[in-house]
Amino acid sequence: MRTIDWNEESNSVVLVDQTLLPQEYRVIECKTLSSLCEAIKSLRIRGAPALGAAGGFGIALAASLSGAKDIEAITRDLKVAAKALKSTRPTAVNLGWGVDRVLKAVSDAFDVQGIRDIALQEARDIAEEDIETNKLIGKHGAKLLKDGDTVLTHCNAGRLACVDWGTALGVVRSAIAAGKNIKVIACETRPLNQGSRITTWELMQDKIPVTLIADSMAGWAMRQGLVNSVLVGADRITQDVVFNKIGTYTHSILAKEHEIPFYVAAPVSTFDFKGWEESVKIEMRNPDELRFSGCEQLAPKDVEVYNPAFDATPMENVTAIITEKGVFYPPFLLDEVLV
Ligand code: MRU
Repeated sequence: MRTIDWNEESNSVVLVDQTLLPQEYRVIECKTLSSLCEAIKSLRIRGAPALGAAGGFGIALAASLSGAKDIEAITRDLKVAAKALKSTRPTAVNLGWGVDRVLKAVSDAFDVQGIRDIALQEARDIAEEDIETNKLIGKHGAKLLKDGDTVLTHCNAGRLACVDWGTALGVVRSAIAAGKNIKVIACETRPLNQGSRITTWELMQDKIPVTLIADSMAGWAMRQGLVNSVLVGADRITQDVVFNKIGTYTHSILAKEHEIPFYVAAPVSTFDFKGWEESVKIEMRNPDELRFSGCEQLAPKDVEVYNPAFDATPMENVTAIITEKGVFYPPFLLDEVLV
């Protein structure tokens, strides 16, 4: 199934609970806005494009649950829902983008039922377009990979980070579909292990060759000549930097040092055209993510912890940005991406 969808019968948002992977593949239903917000906060649903869809479906859910009798009242309910959804995770721009896109669409409605119908249709369109967009990113990006290449990736920018297909891993899928042999090196991605838990699982489901390494092994793998390119997704692209999962910046420096191309694959909805590194809030996560792994204690319980979820890679470390509109090279003039 898709990573996230709408269930017609139960009027709920259904999603793959990614915190359970790889041990268990379970689809959960979010029937209330608070359960959806909890799912986003705890990374049951995660990855920038999937969060865009979650934002859209979240507004559709709020509209379907609202008992309001007139447009003004339901609009107030949707504004409250929008605030709750946006506050769950501050860094990925797609979440707010999905919320705002549905809010904008419903402003054309004439009555309460019209708002509900338009909200659901717009959310479904976001989900549908995400797949088409990723296929285009894949098509453009596949040209950058050669037969026999090994790609190093970080975190999970695959179908589980999107509605389907994936951005960075979508490029790998498209290159393989075009007949190329491509292997992937997946970095573990401490502390929440999206690489080891989700990327490896997802690629193995599709029988795409994947080798897992600890994050600390990336530099040595490059020095050993095992990596032809680094390919990652993005949570937000501002005028000066690419925000992505913590550890991405380190890979970009390592890639530069070893003269390996560093590619970013992301939809246009991930661009924050007015933003700069300084204007973006990086999500700080619970210190216990480093002190514990499940119930296992990994460090003294009261040790001081620094746990940012994302980092920022300066544009000078980026070889190319792959979007649904094509491949962009430095200098990255964000206006060109919009044309
Ligand atoms: O904290 P997460 O798991 O939501 O972080 C996800 C990432 O950093 C991904 O690389 C990014 O969202 C791109 S997903 C296509």
